[in-house]
Amino acid sequence: MNKSFQVPSILAKADWYVQGALSGDIRPYVYVRPDNKINTPGSRHHLDWFPMEPICKNPLDTHELEFANLIYSIEERAFGPANMAMPRWVFYDCAIIPGFVAGFAMRTSKLPKAIREVLNISADHPMDWTPLSLFIIIPTMAKGQWVAHNLCAINSLLPEKDRFYGLGFLSKAFGLWYANVESCLGMTQWGSPALKLHTHYGHMQIVTAYTPVHSHAKTVTYKVEVNTNCWEKFFTREDDLAFLEKYQPNAMMIDPGQEKSMIELHSRIQDGHGPYFLSAADIAAKKLTEPLLIYEPKKEHKYV
Ligand SMILES: CC(C)(COP(=O)(O)OP(=O)(O)OC[C@H]1O[C@@H](n2cnc3c(N)ncnc32)[C@H](O)[C@@H]1OP(=O)(O)O)[C@@H](O)C(=O)NCCC(=O)NCCS
Repeated sequence: MNKSFQVPSILAKADWYVQGALSGDIRPYVYVRPDNKINTPGSRHHLDWFPMEPICKNPLDTHELEFANLIYSIEERAFGPANMAMPRWVFYDCAIIPGFVAGFAMRTSKLPKAIREVLNISADHPMDWTPLSLFIIIPTMAKGQWVAHNLCAINSLLPEKDRFYGLGFLSKAFGLWYANVESCLGMTQWGSPALKLHTHYGHMQIVTAYTPVHSHAKTVTYKVEVNTNCWEKFFTREDDLAFLEKYQPNAMMIDPGQEKSMIELHSRIQDGHGPYFLSAADIAAKKLTEPLLIYEPKKEHKYV
């Protein structure tokens, strides 16, 4: 047991994380080529959630190939049904070379049976750590701006009773914190459960509501100024008073089943209206298929 580790009480709902951190059997990992290593990780956002030393793996080292294969295997099966599995060359050219992969890993010898079965790993497997999630983040040409390219958790492959609550959420939180990310863009499809996570890293502005240049036109591109004050609301489900003070719902809504609603909102954005935002509380309270409220700044908070 690592007795010096203080577990922030806000994370109690993620009991796998608390137990794993205390026993040392679960740790964050960074899978990063040596030139891309982050200087002074975790120095921008003051947060006591990730005191454990991350496991560092080098994707250019062929001894680490099996770790990559497992990351890839989780991703392939999670995104395969949506026909969006990442080709291997995309993982290498577009993720590993310009950016890095972060997530959580568990000591292979301690893996629960359900995870062993899903990943096809035997109890005496020699690999030291097994990845449970992946978050790929890549710097963009815009100063201080990164793109969240991929988020995936083994939870999506497990029966409900075997899931690690908050694994996907904490994986992205760790990557943003570790890389000192100020501003983050991302893409997801309207109606995706991932929206319930992505809205909790800062107030989420809609950059595109309809994206025909993507292989899925019903993609939303969003931008978040990372603000750790919003993060704990993922666990507490408390209202974000700062959001409610700044923004109000307007008459528009996005219906995940109605492409027309996306095209209409996007037309407004490209005609220079907005900015428009999504509310974490609204999305948390709704089923994935329900129409979502669109927020805009209150008059006294109009952007300049
Ligand atoms: C989306 C994904 C990353 C979420 O990670 P996760 O570890 O399953 O989710 P977390 O445990 O962090 O968060 C749980 C919360 O997410 C939401 N959620 C996760 N999966 C959900 C689903 N299938 N349907 C509805 N809500 C879901 C719920 O709000 C839940 O909290 P609540 O029950 O208290 O409301 C994961 O399901 C996944 O890998 N999916 C496949 C790949 C994918 O779609 N990635 C996102 C691309 S942008």
